[in-house]
Amino acid sequence: MSGAKKRLLSGMQPSGNGRLHLGNYEGALKPWVQLQDQYEMYCFIADWHAFTTLAGTDVSIADQSRQVALDYLSAGLDPEKCAIFRQSDVPQHAELAILLGMLTPVSWLERVPTYKEKREHLENYEGGGEVGASYGLLGYPVLQAADILIYRAHAVPVGKDQAAHLELSRAIARRFNFLYNTEYFPEPDAVISEVTGVLPGLDADENGKLRKMSKSYHNAIYLSDTPDQVAERLKNAFTTPSKIRKTDAGIPEGCAVCLLRKLYDPAEYNVQWEECRNGTRGCVQSKRETTEVINTFLEPLRTKRAEYENDPAELDRILARAAEKARATAEETLRGVRQIMKIV
Ligand code: ADP
Ligand code: TRP
Repeated sequence: MSGAKKRLLSGMQPSGNGRLHLGNYEGALKPWVQLQDQYEMYCFIADWHAFTTLAGTDVSIADQSRQVALDYLSAGLDPEKCAIFRQSDVPQHAELAILLGMLTPVSWLERVPTYKEKREHLENYEGGGEVGASYGLLGYPVLQAADILIYRAHAVPVGKDQAAHLELSRAIARRFNFLYNTEYFPEPDAVISEVTGVLPGLDADENGKLRKMSKSYHNAIYLSDTPDQVAERLKNAFTTPSKIRKTDAGIPEGCAVCLLRKLYDPAEYNVQWEECRNGTRGCVQSKRETTEVINTFLEPLRTKRAEYENDPAELDRILARAAEKARATAEETLRGVRQIMKIV
């Protein structure tokens, strides 16, 4: 039956400190875990992509990629059901990216919102690597399209903020098919998790509004955090600014701690919300309880992570086996592309 399964592919970059957070889990990892029985799955670590922000720094991408692999496994991706591998172990991604780059107009790439944002950010950011906005950053979506199309994947589960990249991957697939009068590449569908949307982080922007949890904002709870780290992060989290004393009324909908409580304690959060609102429960208590709820959620992930951390040879085997499978599938696609483009 497995031959009849549709292919699903997704990935994350080992950028920042290389650790995945609850936002990455809710927006991407959790849906991957839920889908792994239905699809032929490829979940990779986009280590080349991470150089768009890390080129020229002394960060070890190899170490960070291992951390991401541990995050994938701890969240419940099963290496028997899902190929977990590094992009750089499958050079076919690069060959296809070069070819797709030849038929992608620069104007399409300059319009991508994440390019515009990142370009400004990198130009003003001291931790942004030596290079600033590179050719690689502009070409980021071409490499992403290659990551997907090299497996001729049908579905790509990602968070909402990746929708523009996916749209471009579809446009590049269509352009290839049109230019070569073929249906070789299926147009990959974005599978966006609508359950959580975008998970807010622990801080607020200059207008006092919550913003997305992101490793670049330093407002995240990481899957690999210890119980004490979770407590510390929540202690400093944004709540209702006008709630100074316990008896002041809170606004749970605008409070990072209350929103996390709702997500990780759906059965009982409403009592906390009610008491926060009518001034019978203070933020200190709410933070303490939310810490417990999140630590309970993370406990099984910590146990799983420790298993693999204690057996690095097994992690190496998992990555090597998956890369071999990925290379075989990718090479098959590329053989077709070389023929269609009359390279061979
Ligand atoms: P970050 O903003 O921390 O750098 P990435 O851009 O590397 O995260 O995103 C990796 C994946 O996780 C993507 O599929 C993205 O859509 C998803 N994701 C990231 N942050 C969130 C969030 N706060 N809520 C939901 N999904 C998220
Ligand atoms: N751009 C994605 C992110 O930042 C990572 C990524 C690279 C990806 N290639 C991909 C995601 C292919 C899905 C499919 O999260």
